[in-house]
Amino acid sequence: MELIKFEKKFETKIKEIDEQHKVLFEIFNKLYSLLLSPHSLNEIQDILNKLSEYTLFHFASEEKLMEHYQYPKLDEHVNMHHSFIEKVETFKLKYEMGDMLLNIHIFTYIYDWLTNHIIFVDKDFANYTFKQ
Ligand SMILES: [Fe+2]
Repeated sequence: MELIKFEKKFETKIKEIDEQHKVLFEIFNKLYSLLLSPHSLNEIQDILNKLSEYTLFHFASEEKLMEHYQYPKLDEHVNMHHSFIEKVETFKLKYEMGDMLLNIHIFTYIYDWLTNHIIFVDKDFANYTFKQ
């Protein structure tokens, strides 16, 4: 696993969303570098907090756009957002309780979720908007 680069395959062509995804990648990459170097519990918690705060903001703007376009798969998409947020919250809690083994799980889960979600789910919405 490596740092995520914002490549063409991640572009939705909706400027607002692409810019926000870039910020999410930056936060993720910070988490990655931190995990590879000596770090304190606080530092990981800070990044996880940042990730959940920014994710909430980003999901809200995506959902607003979906409402605006009356996207038929809105509910489905919102549910996926919720499950991601719940998972990050669980990671935060477990981490606070000292479960260091979570490092790799947190990392793999976020990496897989983000990349798959953007490529298959967000892009599906973006394509829908361009057909309207
Ligand atoms: Fe999304």
